[in-house]
Amino acid sequence: MEQLIASWSGEVVISAFDADSGAWIFIAIHDTTLGPAVGGCRIRVYPKPRDALLDAMRLAEGMTAKWACIGFPLGGGKSVLAIPGVPEAECRGRLLRRLGRIVASLRGLYACGPDLGTTPEDMAVIQEETEYVHGWDREHGKPVDPGPFTALGVFVGIRAAAQRVFGSSELAGRRVLVQGVGDVGVPLAGMLADAGAEVLLSDLIADRARSLGHELGASTVPAGAVYTTPCDVYAPCAVGATVNAEVVPSLQCRIVAGSANNQLDRPDDAEGLHARGILYAPDYVVNAGGAISLPMLREGRTVEAVRDRVARIGQTLGEIFDEAAAAGESPLLAADRRVRSVLEQARRSR
Ligand code: PHE
Repeated sequence: MEQLIASWSGEVVISAFDADSGAWIFIAIHDTTLGPAVGGCRIRVYPKPRDALLDAMRLAEGMTAKWACIGFPLGGGKSVLAIPGVPEAECRGRLLRRLGRIVASLRGLYACGPDLGTTPEDMAVIQEETEYVHGWDREHGKPVDPGPFTALGVFVGIRAAAQRVFGSSELAGRRVLVQGVGDVGVPLAGMLADAGAEVLLSDLIADRARSLGHELGASTVPAGAVYTTPCDVYAPCAVGATVNAEVVPSLQCRIVAGSANNQLDRPDDAEGLHARGILYAPDYVVNAGGAISLPMLREGRTVEAVRDRVARIGQTLGEIFDEAAAAGESPLLAADRRVRSVLEQARRSR
């Protein structure tokens, strides 16, 4: 872990061990040039605490890029609770409160919200300890679910990608494989089905995919066959790093666009996709809908205003695709350049 921290480009790492639950708590604050850090809290079992810290760091970097790309005055941060196994409800509550107290002690430097493994109900627990939480409407005492907004962003992103690859954003008849039938995968599959796409569903919990498939008239794909199933669009909406050196050569799709954070195992995998003629929608751009929705809803903006703002992800992606095509490079390089230029400009004007 010393090595990880020493070689990280971020600002601060906060770590704690929760003896009660046996969980490690990490908060990674990557870059606060644009504003205080905001990013979700992930709860997961990791092989080693080091893997959890690395995940927090990489996810925090992704949040810096996400806020910069959408032009929000916020910085990149993320928290990870590395649990040894699924805790019982009371123990989970105590762990979340512990995180809440640590967040409170930062006095606004970092605010958390829902992410993989956490729910808006978890945010309700955290907000008893700190006001720096997204995903819970304090005034009305009810959850705010970013999932459908993330899904909308991915949906418009897929359309923008289809426009580039097929010359039309029309999704009727297009085959879209949604990997991960969760908070984002479910609403995304619904929108795709409504648009007339042929939806394929896959989930590690096969029953989940099957029952939604039933509802939507979509077929299911076994988890092991996701990377070899022919489709127009592969939409990773589960864990990260599914696009890696092993998978890239076998993919049978034309577009990769989904909601998962850190979809690429290494930045080089974007080159691998580019070389194979697969258009990659950079994850932190196409999945920014949730990040757009949480601060806006917290400020009391209407759902319509949020949806309008989320829909602009399509234009942003279109610009990034154009820039990449003009330079003959992968869209990730074009998106990364955008992020760097936003941050550099902010640093200069400080
Ligand atoms: N976890 C989601 C993301 O990474 C949504 C989120 C954004 C949660 C910002 C909290 C804060 O985009």
